[in-house]
Amino acid sequence: MPEAWDQAVNLADFERIASERLDAGTLGYFAGGAADEVTLADNVAGWRRWRLRPRVLVDVSEVGTGTELLGGPVSMPICIAPVAFQRLVDPDGEVAMARAAAAAGTVMSLSTIATARPTEVAAGAPGGRRFFQLYCFRDQGVTRALMEEAIESGFEAILLTVDAPVAGRRERDQRTGFAVPPDLSVPSLDAALRGGTTFVPQVFDQVDAALDWQDLEDLASECAIPVLVKGVLTAEDAALSIEHGAAGVAVSNHGGRQLDCVAATADVLAEIVEAIEGRGTVFVDGGIRRGTDVAIALALGADAVLVGRPALWGLAVGGEAGARRVLEMLRDELALALALCGCRSPADLTRRHVGRGPAGFA
Ligand code: FNR
Ligand code: LAC
Repeated sequence: MPEAWDQAVNLADFERIASERLDAGTLGYFAGGAADEVTLADNVAGWRRWRLRPRVLVDVSEVGTGTELLGGPVSMPICIAPVAFQRLVDPDGEVAMARAAAAAGTVMSLSTIATARPTEVAAGAPGGRRFFQLYCFRDQGVTRALMEEAIESGFEAILLTVDAPVAGRRERDQRTGFAVPPDLSVPSLDAALRGGTTFVPQVFDQVDAALDWQDLEDLASECAIPVLVKGVLTAEDAALSIEHGAAGVAVSNHGGRQLDCVAATADVLAEIVEAIEGRGTVFVDGGIRRGTDVAIALALGADAVLVGRPALWGLAVGGEAGARRVLEMLRDELALALALCGCRSPADLTRRHVGRGPAGFA
């Protein structure tokens, strides 16, 4: 029997179908942002303030999207962002997401607030590449144990999230009274909170708001795998990240869920790439919905993008196959954008392939 989402031709279709299927509380949690959601909307709009500058009469009879990221191959510079509580939308949750990423030949990032353990995700998606997103909890034992489990089960990098020392103002959650049901196991929180219904602010109460640059330096020097700082929005913090031992940064405003009225990531990416000066890997996330958004991000100097909500909508409407389809759509759209820009591979995209549009086009 054909699935309802077989008719989906782009990521917006997946978002629409998911929003018809999820209950109001769950939808509000996944779709929502902070306060007036200025940044949530601006993340999507931000990529559309740029315009591509295609080059013609280049042989594009063979185009590939494959590249290398943190020492390993990926089929495309598009990875899965860490998103919490995935079993709320699919019974296999993060395991299904990891399988989708593995099948698509790319990396899945597992949240600290996942509904599956690192070992379970590793066993469920053999051969896949994975990063582990770290929230440093006030209970350091919980954090350390999770991180060690991730490293032992083959996760290749730590994404240390630094834009959420305290919870953002999630007004959709306040209106719906969204809470994670007590029967849904969240290994990190089970250890820290010892069960019960969980409201999102309680999650952030566990996060160590005292974390500073010295803690990053200590973590980076002790950790057996590269540590990247997720949630950087300024050139200053990008430079400090590298100076304190990070292997790179993820330019991110947490999908507009933390501080509202911060810049769209598309608007700060260039200054951060400049500050990094080639000393680390640069990921960017927030509002990536099209292959052309990915092409613009790469032209502005990102090594790869992360996608959060779109992959989640894929998982919500079609499980592993749905998330995989979303990734394939993005890969196909990127291949098309590359060909029509006169680029045979992601590495061929340069700063000259993008200009500010439509007014100050240069
Ligand atoms: C997130 N994000 C996130 N980030 C993180 O470091 N740890 C986490 O547990 C979560 N959880 C989470 C839940 C939900 C529902 C969303 C939507 C996002 C942020 C995520 O990694 C990423 O930065 C954004 O989702 C990127 O924006 P898009 O692609 O969703 O627009
Ligand atoms: C969120 C988390 C848990 O954004 O990072 O909801």
